[in-house]
Amino acid sequence: MTKPRTLLALNWKMNKTPTEAKNWARELAGSFTRGTAELAVMAPAIDLPGLKETLPGGVDVGGQDISPHESGAYTGEISAAMLRDVGATYVVVGHSERREYHGETDALVAAKARQAQSGGLTPIVCVGEGLDVRERGEQVPYTLAQLRGSLEGVGENVVVAYEPVWAIGTGRTATADDAEELAVAIRDALRELYGDVADGLRVLYGGSVKPDNIASICAQPNVNGALVGGASLKVADVVGMNDALK
Ligand code: PGA
Repeated sequence: MTKPRTLLALNWKMNKTPTEAKNWARELAGSFTRGTAELAVMAPAIDLPGLKETLPGGVDVGGQDISPHESGAYTGEISAAMLRDVGATYVVVGHSERREYHGETDALVAAKARQAQSGGLTPIVCVGEGLDVRERGEQVPYTLAQLRGSLEGVGENVVVAYEPVWAIGTGRTATADDAEELAVAIRDALRELYGDVADGLRVLYGGSVKPDNIASICAQPNVNGALVGGASLKVADVVGMNDALK
């Protein structure tokens, strides 16, 4: 199995104004040399035009959420076409913070992922168990049930991010073996859905990834990159992670 290209996806969450985002991109342009990984910045939608203008060539951008609808009377929502129009390639859907604070269900996540694809974006579909599930040892069946629900009717142009909720923003990282255990299970489920194409799809790990642990996690045979929150905000950390993947 040839490994697909590693994706280093940065999830800024609700951080950085458009001005701060441009300054960050300028600083990155001054200190970044392309590695083997693809770099993509998932930023607040309002930051994307300035980022696109300022980031070094070849760095992709994406959104953190989209509407499950194409257009129309949905006050406050952002559509796939809007993100696409400002140069987005990706959009995160079903992040655990959306599931927890906004009550997003697997069915809604799947509707968003389908909408992303029909608008020309690649959805990064997030799944992962909470601490209670992990303590019961039920992380594999739980995460796979969430995955199947979140991919209902979704085509094969998809990235999956396994993010155990107990490892997000806590400094508690899953071990490389934990990440691989779920990545294997996820890839098997993707193979059931999409056939052999699944070997070329990217399965990311997320949860307290930083410069000193990214290489061992991404070296796992079924892990194809990382979705990074906290360590994505400082340019030095991003350069460190990018370099660690070279
Ligand atoms: P973290 O966040 O890297 O701060 O743990 C990851 C995420 O929520 O995508």
